[in-house]
Amino acid sequence: MSEDDFAWEIFFKENPKPVHFEENVALIHEFCQHSAIKKQRVALITSGGTTVPLEQNTVRFIDNFSAGTRGSASAEYFLEAGYQVIFLHRSKSLEPYFRHLSGKNIFDMIEIQPSSVTVDQQHQVELRKLAEKYQLYKCNLLMVSFNSLSDYLWLLQATAQEMHILGPLALLYLAAAVSDFYIPASQMPCHKIQSSSGPLSLSLPLVPKMLAPLVKIWAPNAFIVSFKLETNEKLLETKSKESLQKYHHHVVIGNLLHSRKVYVLLVDRISIHPEEIRLSACELEEGIEIESKIVENLKARHDQYYANHKTG
Ligand code: PMT
Repeated sequence: MSEDDFAWEIFFKENPKPVHFEENVALIHEFCQHSAIKKQRVALITSGGTTVPLEQNTVRFIDNFSAGTRGSASAEYFLEAGYQVIFLHRSKSLEPYFRHLSGKNIFDMIEIQPSSVTVDQQHQVELRKLAEKYQLYKCNLLMVSFNSLSDYLWLLQATAQEMHILGPLALLYLAAAVSDFYIPASQMPCHKIQSSSGPLSLSLPLVPKMLAPLVKIWAPNAFIVSFKLETNEKLLETKSKESLQKYHHHVVIGNLLHSRKVYVLLVDRISIHPEEIRLSACELEEGIEIESKIVENLKARHDQYYANHKTG
């Protein structure tokens, strides 16, 4: 065994649990137990970017681009496909159903009457549709939020372990944009870094890849889907295949930063050539989202995986 095999354990020893950790784990525990008794499928969806704080009393942090579009849209489609959903998301990033109101001002949608407040005519249909869906699915949705990389990894580990009871009914969909670099708690200054000390030089150690223990130890019977993000098209297929070979999970979805809303490729253990999902201009115009097709594809793969487990 190499030193890398234990790097994830050292990470959890050196970085403290997030606040409200026990309360969140209790909620996740209850959600999973309930679903296991009812033999319902549960999808863990991770969404949004992780922050890397530079100070313990955090004034400054390193962040990334992710708004949580992929995760929040996918959560809606998984709910509609009959899954119970644990939505592990970056605080204040996009959320299922509410995302459709992002950038809109609620005060511009209401009319104030002498004794009541109502939605104006123009927004009636849209808001009713959203509210109806939200009401229908909110009991099947557990929202848990994080900010920093360390919070995310603690919650990811705990959720995956709680999902163990679900066996092959569990699906993990790792769409969060997870930092590869961080500052360990022991090396982080307690107080705000002073500019009077001169220019700031940073050396950020590598974050251990958590996919390894996730697949092998935390959720060994779950159907696991990870995303691979690249900016260079030439690397996408190779890197996605390498990830699958390294971690031995079930599907890697490769996407490019600039075309991620219209094109993804899916790599699995069986097919030699990746499967592609590409939205046509027509589909885009009709408002079809690529996540609807990704979830449909994964649901079929998960069906097969579950069937094989039952007979195997
Ligand atoms: O939110 P949007 O704006 O819609 O964007 C969606 C998205 C582009 C963020 C999403 O589709 C996506 O690609 N998410 C994965 C981004 C990412 O972390 O990619 P990566 O190539 O750096 O990592 C590959 C895999 O390793 C990921 O599944 C990640 O969870 C995992 N990882 C990463 C770092 C780490 N320390 N441990 C890990 O296990």
